[in-house]
Amino acid sequence: MKREQWGTRAGFILAAVGSAIGLGNIWRFPYMAYENGGGAFFIPYLFAMLTAGIPFMIMEFSLGHKLRGAAPRAFSKLGVRLEWLGWFQVFIASVIAVYYVAVIGWAISYLGFAFTQSWGSDTNAFFFSEYLKLGDNSPSNLGGLQLHIAIPMVIAWGITFAAIFTGVKGGIERANKIMMPLLFLMVLALIARVIFLDGALDGLNYLFQPDFSKILDAKVWSAAYGQIFFTLSVGFAIMIAYSSYLPEKSDINNNAFMTVLINCGFSMVAGILIFSVLGYMAQEQAKPLTEVVSAGVGLAFVTIPAAINLLPAPYILGPVFFLALVVAGLSSHISIIEAVTSAIIDKLKWSRKKAASVVCGVGFVVSMAFATNGGLLLLDLVDYFINNVALLASCLIELLVIGWLLKVSDIRSYVNSISEFTIGKWFEICIRFVSPIMLAIILGTNLTNTFNNGYGGYAMSDLLMLGWGLVAAMFVIAVIINVASKPLDKKEG
Ligand code: PHE
Ligand code: NA
Repeated sequence: MKREQWGTRAGFILAAVGSAIGLGNIWRFPYMAYENGGGAFFIPYLFAMLTAGIPFMIMEFSLGHKLRGAAPRAFSKLGVRLEWLGWFQVFIASVIAVYYVAVIGWAISYLGFAFTQSWGSDTNAFFFSEYLKLGDNSPSNLGGLQLHIAIPMVIAWGITFAAIFTGVKGGIERANKIMMPLLFLMVLALIARVIFLDGALDGLNYLFQPDFSKILDAKVWSAAYGQIFFTLSVGFAIMIAYSSYLPEKSDINNNAFMTVLINCGFSMVAGILIFSVLGYMAQEQAKPLTEVVSAGVGLAFVTIPAAINLLPAPYILGPVFFLALVVAGLSSHISIIEAVTSAIIDKLKWSRKKAASVVCGVGFVVSMAFATNGGLLLLDLVDYFINNVALLASCLIELLVIGWLLKVSDIRSYVNSISEFTIGKWFEICIRFVSPIMLAIILGTNLTNTFNNGYGGYAMSDLLMLGWGLVAAMFVIAVIINVASKPLDKKEG
């Protein structure tokens, strides 16, 4: 059977952008920028984007396009002993997929609450006690299934399943062609309103006011690099799968630049949106901005609801904000499930419909672990190990394989032969030297820190089993598949 293909170039770019723009852009980026020196964070961030983000995107687009397979097939075509790296990436994608969908579920619930602000005035107590019903739990003591969280997750799975089941062009591309313009419109409409609120500009000053002392802090660089891979969806099987459906005539360089720049531009816009709202909130409550901000998940589900309470027409702005969050999350979830599905289609020669059903069915069941009282804690722990250990290791190995085992100049001549503008020698320098050196330092630091200090105060047994153990199991199983199974068929599927 011939491999499926995107219908149009714009369709591919919207899908790639749909994957890249996700929950990470809306709640993670603004908070990271704020924490890591405000305006000064943009220097390491832009450096990471140029030296790691863009080269990595070009590299993954070229792998998918040239080798015509999801990650396992693409890597096995580079060398039969490399198939495991593809599976390791598919496992990273699978793990992210099952917890990410929980956050989408929360966002769907909050979309409902937003119409009447039924989260009340104490949004912190509401989120943790009333909504999540987090009690005396831990990542390994999850409590019971919470139907009111499970049901919105079913809705999210339903939408993802419909897109994947229907296929690349009719399902994924069509979904993104609706979702992405809708997302841009909603975010622009929100900004147009909130930027004129009292205090909004103070919020922006806060975000963009550079704290240059932070630039010398290794943590800030680590945060910037970590964020770049996650935000661009590279290193975990997604962009290789998406680009394996590109038609033969495709401008790789141009597509890669567009995807990266649109994603990072969107992050800036989201930062502006969030900080305008926070500035307004600080002004309304006559508090310093540092006192109204909360971290990570809390930003979207505690601080923003509290800010919405204070906004003019909260019953409009609130639902629009949470719908934007849902749409951004769903288009990413679709991409991550496709990365897994297409790997299975390649390997087992299943039909798309069968593979999509099994992947979504199993994924749904596993994801229910996050719809429990302790779901947030499990999510927090797993997310930490996936992002700070597994994903960075995967990216580093991919760079070393491409840059040192194989000939990276081949990739450069390949993309330059099919793209309108060409890329220079800097591409090879970034792939072989700059990015791997930065990544090796960051990964090394993360490993020692986590090894010595643990993370988040979780019990040693939880860290061993759900953190280190999970990552090790993913690696071992990937290697076993590589060694024990029949090598992937080289023909396109
Ligand atoms: N790029 C996404 C983001 O910034 C990360 C992601 C992609 C997560 C795909 C899940 C699935 O949120
Ligand atoms: Na992103």
